[in-house]
Amino acid sequence: MESTLKEMRVGASVLDMDPKSTVGGGVEDVYGEDRATEDLLVTPWTISVASGYTLLRDPQHNKGLAFTEKERDAHYLRGLLPPAIISQQLQEKKLLKTIRQYQLPLQKYSAMMELEERNERLFYKLLIDNVEELLPVVYTPTVGEACQKYGSIFKRPQGLYISLKEKGKVLDVLKNWPRKSVQVIVVTDGERILGLGDLGCQGMGIPVGKLALYTALGGIRPSACLPVTIDVGTNNEELLNDEFYIGLKQRRATGQEYYELLHEFMRAVKQNYGEKVLIQFEDFANHNAFELLAKYGTTHLVFNDDIQGTASVVLAGLLSALKLLGGNIADHTFLFLGAGEAGTGIAELIALEMSRQTKVPLEETRKMIWLMDSKGLIVSSRKDSLQHFKKPWAHEHEPVKGLLDAVQAVKPTVLIGTSGVGRTFTKEVIEAMVFYNEKPIILALSNPTSHSECTAEEAYSWTKGKAIFASGSPFAPVEYEGQVFYPGQSNNTYIFPRPWPGFGHVWELFVFMMICFWQPRKPCPGKLQRSTFQGG
Ligand code: NAI
Repeated sequence: MESTLKEMRVGASVLDMDPKSTVGGGVEDVYGEDRATEDLLVTPWTISVASGYTLLRDPQHNKGLAFTEKERDAHYLRGLLPPAIISQQLQEKKLLKTIRQYQLPLQKYSAMMELEERNERLFYKLLIDNVEELLPVVYTPTVGEACQKYGSIFKRPQGLYISLKEKGKVLDVLKNWPRKSVQVIVVTDGERILGLGDLGCQGMGIPVGKLALYTALGGIRPSACLPVTIDVGTNNEELLNDEFYIGLKQRRATGQEYYELLHEFMRAVKQNYGEKVLIQFEDFANHNAFELLAKYGTTHLVFNDDIQGTASVVLAGLLSALKLLGGNIADHTFLFLGAGEAGTGIAELIALEMSRQTKVPLEETRKMIWLMDSKGLIVSSRKDSLQHFKKPWAHEHEPVKGLLDAVQAVKPTVLIGTSGVGRTFTKEVIEAMVFYNEKPIILALSNPTSHSECTAEEAYSWTKGKAIFASGSPFAPVEYEGQVFYPGQSNNTYIFPRPWPGFGHVWELFVFMMICFWQPRKPCPGKLQRSTFQGG
């Protein structure tokens, strides 16, 4: 022993930074990893069999303390876990208790994300069993705050980042994703995250959250889901000046440079995953959203959630509201505040449904629907300066600037907010709605909660309980003059395209919950009702 220590002391120390020596603590550097330099890259080797310690670190297969005695023996887990065996049910109970103890929504979000990275099965069990409580945690409104702070909560990759740096190598980037049988990709470029605007690379929270719901509500395997964020820069000054910003620090690429990267991505996706993979565009700004949908609609299986998903879920809600009101959808007049992706998408589907039901041409049914943008009511005199997707809504009318004036001019039966601007349904506006209608339908769809056009409480109290109300982000039940009103949530999070079993590339839209247009009522039918309605 004496001589060995002496030899070591006079010999080279294992900590010497001589490039030829090893820093492996005496373990032979078989693959040359310790000698790797920036010029001579050596990819580290890992064991890929999911057993023992590796199994506990593999979120797809890890069960934590739920591994049974037999499994602990079979999978080389003895000694790696404390002796107690805690069933999944008990683990779920414990986690729910912990999550409920957190005061801040973002703490709850982080706890859920950590669980997903640790034990995927438990994460989905918890989410599915408590979907009403946890949906607002993993999706709107909390996901909005999570995106704003994504840089500081980022720990491990939850999806793929494809930036301008990867131009020319997008296929290689896709191959880096460990799961190969991808069926659904939710992709954002981060330019219009909820109603929060340009969050650049930090928009990743949206595809991650939406795909968690694809599994929890849509029944798609987690391994078949791939979240993607395309990073072409950001125009958000705050992020550009933030030394900790995780994305490309440059202004957004536009035009050819933007479309080349998107095109390479779309081609690579098909090449890597085949024809049947569904690509869902999420939270793209409208100057790209409509163009991408039109461009790839005939070559790829694409779906724009903000345009098509929102429209489907709102139409489902309106049809459900008609059960309370009687009559049919063509009896109604609609006014939208906000004429972007959500507004024009919903408007078009309503017009199509009116046309389908009444056999009146689409051009005519569109005339029952009015839209406003930041410049006022969309009318024919503005036609030349309108973006192409607004033109079908430019009806004959004199110009109207404010929302109250528009309500008085159009006398809508349904008022829909899709502007992303909070508190725009003022008391006067809502009172005007109830002045013209016995039961006005009021949908404040903008997200997150702070951008909602009005609160549930305002809608019910200003209409003296007469409004049929739903919002994009959830509101708690409201007590008004001794009655409890349960606001519905109208969010595209409830709609998922699903593969049609046995029909290969055919997908269907599947609404998992009709929004609860119901007032007042006994405690909400509550639990999400699976497969209650199929929309198209
Ligand atoms: P967008 O940017 O495509 O459209 C916004 C529209 O609002 C534009 O027409 C703009 O001119 C108009 N606008 C802006 N400020 C206005 C103002 N002060 N008065 C009148 N109009 C104004 O955005 P997009 O995708 O249509 O989303 C808008 C909002 O809808 C966001 O808050 C988003 O979170 C929400 N949304 C909700 C969904 C749900 O499922 N509940 C789904 C998709 C969007």
